[in-house]
Amino acid sequence: MADAAQVLDFPAPAPEPGPEERPVLVLDFGGQYSQLIARRVREARVYSELVSHRLGPDEILARHPAALVLSGGPASVYAEGAPLADPAIFELGIPTLGICYGMQLLARELGGTVESNDVSEYGKADVELSAEGALFGDMATEQVVWMSHRDSVVSAPPGARVTASSPTTPIAGFEDPERGLYAVQFHPEVVHTPQGQQMLERFLYDVAGAPPAWTPAAVIEEQVERIRGQVGSERVICGLSGGVDSAVAALLVYKAVGDQLTCVFVDHGFLRENEAMQVVETFGGHFHVPLVHVDARERFLARLAGVSEPEEKRKRIGEEFIRVFEEEAGKLGDVRFLVQGTLYSDVIESGGEDGVAAKIKSHHNVGGLPADMRMELVEPLRSLFKDEVRRVGEQLGLPERMVWRHPFPGPGLSIRIIGEVTEERLEVLRAADSVLLEEVRRAGLYGELWQCFAVLPAIRSVGVQGDERTYAYPIVIRAVTSEDAMTADWARLPHELLDTIASRIVNEVPGVNRVALDLTSKPPATIEWE
Ligand code: XMP
Repeated sequence: MADAAQVLDFPAPAPEPGPEERPVLVLDFGGQYSQLIARRVREARVYSELVSHRLGPDEILARHPAALVLSGGPASVYAEGAPLADPAIFELGIPTLGICYGMQLLARELGGTVESNDVSEYGKADVELSAEGALFGDMATEQVVWMSHRDSVVSAPPGARVTASSPTTPIAGFEDPERGLYAVQFHPEVVHTPQGQQMLERFLYDVAGAPPAWTPAAVIEEQVERIRGQVGSERVICGLSGGVDSAVAALLVYKAVGDQLTCVFVDHGFLRENEAMQVVETFGGHFHVPLVHVDARERFLARLAGVSEPEEKRKRIGEEFIRVFEEEAGKLGDVRFLVQGTLYSDVIESGGEDGVAAKIKSHHNVGGLPADMRMELVEPLRSLFKDEVRRVGEQLGLPERMVWRHPFPGPGLSIRIIGEVTEERLEVLRAADSVLLEEVRRAGLYGELWQCFAVLPAIRSVGVQGDERTYAYPIVIRAVTSEDAMTADWARLPHELLDTIASRIVNEVPGVNRVALDLTSKPPATIEWE
């Protein structure tokens, strides 16, 4: 047994770096799948960020990346103005994977040649993999992959071996393990390359030695430390909106600094049925987070009296929100920090000159917080995509209903009443919306939809009910599927379900005598009506 003195002579082992401290950097050359590559790497539980292709060797080294991935891009590597990387980054000894344009760039910089083909290769292709390819291991040598290129590598760089070929693209992959350089012409990140994720994982785990350590638990641990480092013993305030982002951000901060956090929940009165109660019960009751619940329903309604123009509604709600929030923050005394649920998708600016920008969108998670609050921002979700936020929320014990809740606009039901917002209309809409969601949930379809809600156009039509003529509101059902809300398709809800929803709404919600279905996609319509 080693004696104690001798053991103590050894320096304490350095703490293992957290997964986010050894990122996989995806250099963005403008390809349409650049962001998808970062997402696939994250799905392999390795932390990844999209960065500019202009990053120089010093900047790259400063990030201590576990690996680099060079994305695809629309240009030809010899074209004037084509996005290039500083070739010195290939000499850093960092394992690097070039994909499509990234492969051609590697070839160009390392002494291979790239030529333009007469025809482009687009779509599924059969490739033959070499058994020696480190990315392919023991996979079947015949693989279907997704190609999308006009140029091709016609001679691999000296020292590199060809690892994949297709009838039209004899050099569809090459590797130079000595220098840590790997390249494929096809796109392993898209679903049309069935074994693509496995190839990426081989690169990450086996080649780059980056373990699948970036889990929700690791994210929580890392963020909690960061928040503690940033906030110290100061006080923090967080606005809760009822949505998943602010909820998860608040819980992370609470886990980090406990009662130094105060959450402020401004109930503007435009929330859905039971929503305000759920926020109060979950945060105050269940998690015991110090919570100020401001019932500002009358104030907001008064501010909207006589207003039916959508932008005017938004503007007034935003202003009133700031006023209420400031009043409450003022009551708390000296608060240095403000939590915001900014997401990674808000941070990335896609398609720009660099594909990436440090510019942060003025993102307002809770209806627009004042720029001059002179508080420092705490943004624990800045590195996460929405689905990752949800997984972190689940891990933190946030109730499923809150974690998987459909997106809900800050101004809430007020922009789903087309016309002036009144107490009576809010009641009608809230009741109809509640029936709609209850039935969609019962049918097991809630999780399939991006959003599903009721809209109340403030017009009246004639109906007949129990021998009586009625003159009442219609309710419009809006249900859409979408990936990211940029585009959306109207959801084909089963007719029986629609029938149940329509009869229940007309029978159970006083003031409604007609139900209609919105059949428009986005574009040309938007998801919300205002
Ligand atoms: P549209 O209606 O533009 O909506 O297709 C796209 C997504 O954004 C949400 N949305 C908002 N979210 N404040 C928000 O926080 C708003 O004013 C707002 N307007 C729309 C909408 O619900 C959809 O998910």
